[in-house]
Amino acid sequence: MTMTSEATLFSPTTIGKIQVANRIAMAPLTRSRADRNGVHTPLAIEYYRQRATAGLIITEATNISRQGRGYAFTPGIYTEAHVDAWRPVTDAVHEAGGKIVCQLWHVGRMSHVDLQENGAAPVAPSAIQAGELIFLETGKQAPPSMPRALETDEIPGILEDYKNAARCAMEAGFDGVEVHSANCYLLDQFVRDSTNKRTDRYGGSLENRTRFPVEVISAVSEIWGPDRVGVRLSPLTRSAGDTPLDSDPQKTYGFYVERLGKLGLAYLHCIEGQTRGDNAASAFDFKALHAIFGGKYIANNSYSREMAIEAIASGYAEMVAFGRPFIGNPDLVERLRRNAPLTEPNHATFYGGAAAGYTDYKTLGESVTG
Ligand SMILES: Cc1cc2nc3c(=O)[nH]c(=O)nc-3n(C[C@H](O)[C@H](O)[C@H](O)COP(=O)(O)O)c2cc1C
Repeated sequence: MTMTSEATLFSPTTIGKIQVANRIAMAPLTRSRADRNGVHTPLAIEYYRQRATAGLIITEATNISRQGRGYAFTPGIYTEAHVDAWRPVTDAVHEAGGKIVCQLWHVGRMSHVDLQENGAAPVAPSAIQAGELIFLETGKQAPPSMPRALETDEIPGILEDYKNAARCAMEAGFDGVEVHSANCYLLDQFVRDSTNKRTDRYGGSLENRTRFPVEVISAVSEIWGPDRVGVRLSPLTRSAGDTPLDSDPQKTYGFYVERLGKLGLAYLHCIEGQTRGDNAASAFDFKALHAIFGGKYIANNSYSREMAIEAIASGYAEMVAFGRPFIGNPDLVERLRRNAPLTEPNHATFYGGAAAGYTDYKTLGESVTG
């Protein structure tokens, strides 16, 4: 039987141990609508349920600890209250036939003393301040605070925090977890030579710089089994202009992914280019990265319908993740299937607020007025 390429984008497959109904993933999207303690309100249940026709939902980045929090109103997955708030979300997605993994997040230096326990300094591989702006609970934006370099003997405690979060995610009924190692957050800060100036066994050589991220991913895999653990990378992303790239991203991320390839993970998920910028698959050899990894690959960053169809049909990727299109189009899968027009999401309601711009986008059936 000859399959059309479109049939391939909409055909089921298996990613690690997770069976997905199609090749379209919902990319992780921070929406900043949890309460001050990182506990979701019931609105999140509706938001994710509406999008459950995605083959795989990857949740918004979710804090693994209070220390790992850098943006007000982002959810957590480290207390009983967090688990109780996430469970109805995973139930709703499963009832609608979907699959959902939790993106595990520690922001490292991208935080502010106002968001930390007792006004503590954020932690990072090295005491180098980030230049990006972050949102505080007051709604004001501020530059991240000067971070404190982690002591070597603090590393096991953070690994424990990741394990606790992984256990909480299991208790909350997720299908797996995605370790956030992209976008210049803690794990990425260890990997890049611009943000890691350590002289202990977690800094210097590539082996040393990738040690902590690999330890985190291995620790989480102990809880879930590696075939329910994915990893997200963004080798070309600068954070708000000020963080230089690694001095040799191809070599650095190639080395990192070679280590990841040995762990038997469910998937590698790459943001191809500057996050939310142009897809820059040509500026970096992502194909070489998949080959080194040797497992399933999820491609992301400004993919159009045509690019996604081609990526799957050609075997370039096993899934394509869409971010912004899923904000404005809860029924994105159906719209892509029918080649129907997409609703532009409203940028003003990306972060914070309530139902407006969150759960009130219409499906095709609702928006077609005849
Ligand atoms: C509002 C918003 C929030 C985002 N939050 C996250 C996040 O929590 N974790 C993450 O890894 N990427 C995050 N991203 C990046 C997206 O997952 C995705 O990589 C990016 O939007 C490019 O894909 P797209 O062109 O399909 O939107 C966010 C992007 C947007 C627009």
